[in-house]
Amino acid sequence: MLENSQILVLLSLFSVFYVVQKFVDFRKAVHAVNDWPGFRTLFDDRFLLFPLRARGINPGPQWSFDTKYRDFADAGRDVLAAVNAFPRVRITFYVADPVVTKEVVGARARFPKPLQAYEILKTFGSNILVTEGDIWKRQRKIAAPAFSERNNRLVWDETVHILEDVFQNVWGDKAEIEVPHIMDLTVPITLLVIGVAGFGRRMLWNEDKIAPPGHTMTFKEALYEVSHRLFLKVIFPGWMLRWGPSKFRYFAQAYEELEKYLAEMVHARRTAEVKEERHDLFSNLLDANEGEDDSDARLSDEELVGNVFLFLVAGYETTAHTLAYAFILLALYPDEQEAFYQNIKSVLPSDRNPTYEDFSSLSYALAVLNETLRWFPPVVHIPKKSAEDTVFNVTNPSGEKATIAVPRDSTITICVPSLHHNSRYWDEPEAFKPARFLGNYPRDAFLPFSGGPRGCVGRGFAETESVAVLALVVSKYRVEVKDEPQFRGESFEQRKARLLKSQHSLTIYPERAPLVFKRR
Ligand code: HEM
Ligand SMILES: *[C@@H]1O[C@H](CO)[C@@H](O)[C@H](O)[C@H]1NC(C)=O
Ligand SMILES: *[C@@H]1O[C@H](CO)[C@@H](O)[C@H](O)[C@H]1NC(C)=O
Repeated sequence: MLENSQILVLLSLFSVFYVVQKFVDFRKAVHAVNDWPGFRTLFDDRFLLFPLRARGINPGPQWSFDTKYRDFADAGRDVLAAVNAFPRVRITFYVADPVVTKEVVGARARFPKPLQAYEILKTFGSNILVTEGDIWKRQRKIAAPAFSERNNRLVWDETVHILEDVFQNVWGDKAEIEVPHIMDLTVPITLLVIGVAGFGRRMLWNEDKIAPPGHTMTFKEALYEVSHRLFLKVIFPGWMLRWGPSKFRYFAQAYEELEKYLAEMVHARRTAEVKEERHDLFSNLLDANEGEDDSDARLSDEELVGNVFLFLVAGYETTAHTLAYAFILLALYPDEQEAFYQNIKSVLPSDRNPTYEDFSSLSYALAVLNETLRWFPPVVHIPKKSAEDTVFNVTNPSGEKATIAVPRDSTITICVPSLHHNSRYWDEPEAFKPARFLGNYPRDAFLPFSGGPRGCVGRGFAETESVAVLALVVSKYRVEVKDEPQFRGESFEQRKARLLKSQHSLTIYPERAPLVFKRR
């Protein structure tokens, strides 16, 4: 038997050994990157038990959204090499350098995705965001063609249709419409768009809530609930959702309902005598899956559902949040809004609605979208890893050339807001100037949709929808910040900070931004 004192000695010895080992590993990692500047912390930015920024402890979750280019400017480097101690000693390269970014997103085999970072997005089935290698390749090859030109046209036409319904039947003949929080407008719009252009279901803003036979919820209710609380599915096991508090049970019910609707849609399409010509993403996926005997060219039913859910997750929040920021920025910068309005008028001199053919002429709207995405890229950090020992050749802001050693298995995180505010490439990065995108802009320093083979497959979808929404709304309404008595005395900077104050879930979004839409 060991005496208490002996146990104590053993424990102390063990602790000393552990600390020394950690220290040695940490020094080794710092040495492996030749002490390249960057954070030296206890934890890395993904450590959820301490999700705050604190010197020496954690750089902070999605820290680059808050500090933009500042940490890079302070270090005089466009790539930082961070080393953290717990739970395991790890090296992370944070990148705000366009040349390195281009190399990393362009070489899928050398810089694959760290799949453990995507585990949570796998819950509803294997899909193209959470896979790598051959599985990803097969799925992407089948899924990418669903985002066709025909689908973009459908996105456009249906977006216009949805807005017409809002203008006529929801906003009616009111000269001023107060929107207590801009997300109350952009979230339902994008939901209706993904409903019809993603799932082939036309829905209205004010729809009656009578569920069809065999269902306990309408498609819209189920879609709305699932997309809003999908994080529950990610965090809690199925039994807890089914038997937990009523909020959980409602979500579980909505999820089951949505699965049932999807199964019915698959069945209806597979058994239809004459196929309707439809170009929503789901129909496109089903069509691509049919008539192929070769199992390499097909998605399993699980993958089919996984990808459709992924389109919902990937395509709806991102676009809703981006449009919310765009309206806030237009309200904060009336001169920019006026320039945009004049451009719309020059493309559409009469009062007719813009058509898909106008998309390319409405480049100013795309510039407004791009400038919004430059400030508020919904996906803040894009993670990759290094599959091999390699180097980054960089030029420091001081002009001196340097080589950074990148050991195998290092994490590489592209800091999109930092890249988008890198003052070596952008003039006045703090200014809202959509027109900068109409001339020559630093293309490689702009990456809201990631790039290369793993870039966003829904970019055309998002751009089409956003341009239609921005052009149509601004052509008919002037957007202003709501005048609230308690904020009368604030300065422009205070107002800007108040309206743009953000939160993050999977993506970033504005906390509270009351706007007014005044008919022109
Ligand atoms: C403003 C809107 C959007 C932004 C900013 C955006 C951004 C991104 C980014 C940064 C990635 C790469 C993620 C990573 O590497 O971890 C990505 C991937 C993806 N996005 Fe988007 N996205 C948007 C809209 C959409 C839409 C509308 C859809 C579909 C309807 C969509 C579907 C996807 C899919 C399926 C992937 C995975 C591609 C792959 O890994 O092969 N996105 N998106
Ligand atoms: C906007 O950005 C995209 C890249 O995301 C680019 O292809 C497009 O040309 C840009 N257009 C304008 C007008 O800013
Ligand atoms: C980086 O520079 C070294 C020489 O300094 C060269 O051998 C190597 O090919 C370069 N790597 C890349 C990826 O450009």
